[in-house]
Amino acid sequence: MFIDYLNFYNKRINNFLISVFNNIDFKNSKLFDAMKYSTLLGGKRIRPCLIYFIGDILNVNLNNLDVIAATIEVIHSYSLIHDDLPSMDNSLVRRGKPSCHTKFNEFTAILSGDALQSLAFSILSSKSMFKVSSSIRLKMIYELSKSIGISGLCMGQYLDLKSKDVVITKNYLEKVFFYKTCLLINTSIKLVCLNKNISRNHKINKDLYKYSTIISLAYQINDDISDFKYDKIVNKKFKNKKYNYVSLVGLDRAKFRVLDLYNKAIFILKKLAKKNYLKIELLKSFTKYMVNFDK
Ligand code: IPE
Ligand code: IPE
Ligand code: MG
Ligand code: MG
Ligand code: MG
Repeated sequence: MFIDYLNFYNKRINNFLISVFNNIDFKNSKLFDAMKYSTLLGGKRIRPCLIYFIGDILNVNLNNLDVIAATIEVIHSYSLIHDDLPSMDNSLVRRGKPSCHTKFNEFTAILSGDALQSLAFSILSSKSMFKVSSSIRLKMIYELSKSIGISGLCMGQYLDLKSKDVVITKNYLEKVFFYKTCLLINTSIKLVCLNKNISRNHKINKDLYKYSTIISLAYQINDDISDFKYDKIVNKKFKNKKYNYVSLVGLDRAKFRVLDLYNKAIFILKKLAKKNYLKIELLKSFTKYMVNFDK
C-alpha cells in the first residue's frame, strides 16, 4: 500500500538524519540545537520520499538513496530557516512551532542555516555510496551547488522577495517558483539518475525531469493556496507582505492550474508506466499526495 511505503520512507529518512546528527561534533551548543530543531522536528519529507520512490523505480541502492535524500532535506531545512528570517518572510511560525530565529535568536538561525548548507555538502561528499565513482560524485556535488545558488534557489528567493516592489504576472511568479522550489526537487532526481549513471539525454531521465518540474510547480502553487487559505498574510504572520499566487490570479485559477499540472505529471508517468507498471502506480499515488496536502 502507498501509505505504508510513505511511512516506511519517512521513518527511514528520519533515522538516517538522526544518525547524521549523532555523528556531529560540537553537540553542546545552541547552534547544534538550532540545526537539529529545524531538521528533525516535523516536515512532510516530500523530497526524500520522491527520491525513494523514483530510486525504487530505477533500482538504485537504498543506502545510496539515504545519502541523496538526507543531502536534499538538509538543504531544504537550511532554506526554510533563512526563509523565515525577519529580513525575508518574517515568519514567527514554522510547522506549527516557533521558527528557528523565534526559538533561538537571529544570529543563531542565520548560522545554523549556513552550517546546514555546509553539512549537506559534507554528507554528499563523504557518506559511502555503493558503486559511485569519484567523478560521478563530483558531478552530483556540482549539480547541487548549481541548483541552490545564484542560478537556483538563492535567485528564486531573491526574486520572490523583490516581487513586492514590481508589477508581476503569473508567468513571472511561476519563474520565481521554478528557481526557488523546482530546481532543488529537479536536482533530487538528477542525483538519483547520476547514481545509475543514466545519461542526461536518456529518455527516462528527460521524462523524469519534466515530471519533477511540473509536479514541484504544482506543489509550490498548492503551498500558496494553503498559505492563502489560512490567511497567513493578513494574519500578519508574514509581516513582509508580498505576492502570493492566489492573491495574483484568484483561488479558482490557482486550483485549476494545480489540477492542470497534476494531469500533465500523470500523463508523463503513464508514458513511463509501460516500463514498470506496479512501481509507477506508487509514484502516481505520491504525485496525488503532493498536490493534496494542507499545512
Ligand atoms: C515549504 O516546503 C516550502 C515550499 C517549497 C513549498 P515543504 O512544504 O516541503 O515543507 P515541510 O518540510 O514539509 O515543512
Ligand atoms: C519557500 O517558499 C521556498 C524556499 C524556502 C526556497 P515559501 O516562503 O512559500 O514557504 P513557506 O510558505 O514559508 O513554507
Ligand atoms: Mg518565502
Ligand atoms: Mg515563507
Ligand atoms: Mg508558502
